[in-house]
Amino acid sequence: KAAEPLRVMISGAPASGKGTQCELITKMYDLVHIAAGDLLRAEVAAGTENGKRAKEYMERGQLVPDEIVVMMVKDRLSLQDSEEKGWLLDGYPRSVSQATALKNFGFDPDIFILLEVPEELLVERVVGRRLDPVTGKIYHLKYSPPETEEIAARLTQRFDDTEEKACFNLLFLVKLRLLTHNSNVEAVLSMYEDIIVKVDGSRTKQDVFSHIDSVLTKLLEKKEAALGSP
Ligand code: AP5
Repeated sequence: KAAEPLRVMISGAPASGKGTQCELITKMYDLVHIAAGDLLRAEVAAGTENGKRAKEYMERGQLVPDEIVVMMVKDRLSLQDSEEKGWLLDGYPRSVSQATALKNFGFDPDIFILLEVPEELLVERVVGRRLDPVTGKIYHLKYSPPETEEIAARLTQRFDDTEEKACFNLLFLVKLRLLTHNSNVEAVLSMYEDIIVKVDGSRTKQDVFSHIDSVLTKLLEKKEAALGSP
């Protein structure tokens, strides 16, 4: 019998590097990456009722109401691949009510990774962020430039990262997202006290990943050892 798969939560301020690390973690550990923000942006792109409502909150840097987010995440976690391979939950829970809902549905993480990045770096990261619409890969004009001219030519900005479409200008929106994060983070952390691992997210993406990788490797070893012991 194989050891139980990993169940990982990753959290951090807007643009702290969650999506970037998730891409590296998923590659190495083959977990199912479930990003609340990506699920919401897919609803927005599909033009559903939930998507239309969600967009209003996202453009203001506020949390989308639980009745939209909770079931969306729960349904994705309940699919067979998440159960079999394990999951990497990104950007959820962002409030005590979201954390409680997940617990009540029986989804408990093994580890809660918190990426810590000083605020002045976050702004620079959002402003330089670009997305490849073809592969979904996240780039940064300065820190993680596209590999080819062809990719560079097709890069776009996320709808909640552009000034034209949002109600506010980008810097203001980043501050609003940060305010929302800061006002919720302590309460969420208090629910995962025993399993929090704080990671300095201000280093290069490879250095940040090395830290996360060593923590996850140890966790997997522990799970396998537990399986072998009587
Ligand atoms: P979401 O999509 O989750 O956005 P966020 O939390 O603001 O985080 P980001 O995706 O902006 O950043 P990231 O941490 O993934 O950083 P990235 O890797 O891209 O949520 C968006 C909105 O949806 C929310 O505001 C809310 O309205 C709603 N929402 C989402 N979840 C919700 C929930 N649970 N409940 C209710 N509402 C919810 O990196 C950023 C940039 O930095 C990139 O350009 C990258 O290349 C670069 N970079 C990354 N790492 C490094 C590094 N180490 N060094 C240098 N550059 C780096």
